[in-house]
Amino acid sequence: MLADSYGRVATDLRVSLTDRCNLRCTYCMPPEGLEWLPKPELLTDDELLRLIDIGVTRLGITEVRFTGGEPLLRRGLPDILAGTTALRPRPRTALTTNAIGLARTANALAEAGLDRVNVSLDTLQPEIFEKLARRRRLNDVLDGLAAAADAGLTPVKVNTVLMRDMNDHEAADLLRFSIEHGYELRFIEQMPLDAQHGWRRDTMVTAEEILRSLEAEFDLEPADAETRGSAPAELFHVNGERFPNGETANVGVIGSVTRPFCGACDRVRLTADGQVRNCLFAREESDLRTPLREGATDEEIAERWKAAVAPKLPGHGINDPSFLQPARPMSAIGG
Ligand code: GTP
Ligand code: 5AD
Ligand code: SF4
Repeated sequence: MLADSYGRVATDLRVSLTDRCNLRCTYCMPPEGLEWLPKPELLTDDELLRLIDIGVTRLGITEVRFTGGEPLLRRGLPDILAGTTALRPRPRTALTTNAIGLARTANALAEAGLDRVNVSLDTLQPEIFEKLARRRRLNDVLDGLAAAADAGLTPVKVNTVLMRDMNDHEAADLLRFSIEHGYELRFIEQMPLDAQHGWRRDTMVTAEEILRSLEAEFDLEPADAETRGSAPAELFHVNGERFPNGETANVGVIGSVTRPFCGACDRVRLTADGQVRNCLFAREESDLRTPLREGATDEEIAERWKAAVAPKLPGHGINDPSFLQPARPMSAIGG
């Protein structure tokens, strides 16, 4: 079991498959990209599967989410999925992706064992997409989303980071679009995780503001007071609006900064170069790659992993005056 000193148990493993990406979202990367991890430092597919195996069979991991960078850029993804879902007890699997290329691969990924996807989509306007993600790929993203739903990778969730004077006027449009297609939309407060360190508290669009602007057009009702568990999103029913399957539509708000959910956190992260992070905002990482390559036993690796989770801090500390952004950006940690 991966327990920390505050009584939390990590059961949700988030694995970053690559730090590379084919977009350049302003809240994440500079236009020129970053210095990518050198290939020899990346875990191979087999190394990755060995660690996932240890997590699932010895440490109580029940859900494995693949992230990036952009995880669809990892060629071995279908094999990694197949290897993961062959484990017993079979973990649930999910992918957080920008959906570029998903139109071609959704069916194969579903067959390889992928259960569901979360797709980043911050705007429905091609010009804003180009300004925000610095590439002209909006149609690829929309096609990818549709293909994911067709392939049964459901519930398909949409992640929208709202930014002032960029896409904050689109909240209602994005919600209408998501309801019409049956996607579960979640609006996300921007966090200080960009490589350029450009995050500013005073320009962040807060959960409170997001809800106020949605309530001007929709009738929202809290939906998960008892059932939220460890989910980062607070869910709301959108009264009077239905998804295509007839269920009442919903929308989520992920208020990581102003409404932190660290107290219920059940996550642990593995970076593409084999480092365990017990929090997105952890100041320290624990190296599993070196012992793995030096021939450590499963037992030894499991012990190291436990020791990495035990000292997890109670919260992310973003609201502390002494807060320091982690050295690694979001794209290298895995979202
Ligand atoms: P679901 O299981 O579908 O609810 O996934 P998720 O919302 O946890 O994952 P996703 O990768 O879609 O992330 C959505 C947003 O939540 C992103 O902005 C993540 O960075 C943020 N997020 C995910 N995990 C954490 C976390 O442990 N702490 C904080 N502060 N934010 C997180
Ligand atoms: N703050 C909040 N969310 C972010 N994401 C990427 N960078 C940030 C940030 N600085 C989101 C992406 C993706 C998910 C993994 O995290 O939009 O959907
Ligand atoms: Fe790529 Fe995701 Fe970063 Fe955008 S937020 S540049 S899609 S890794």
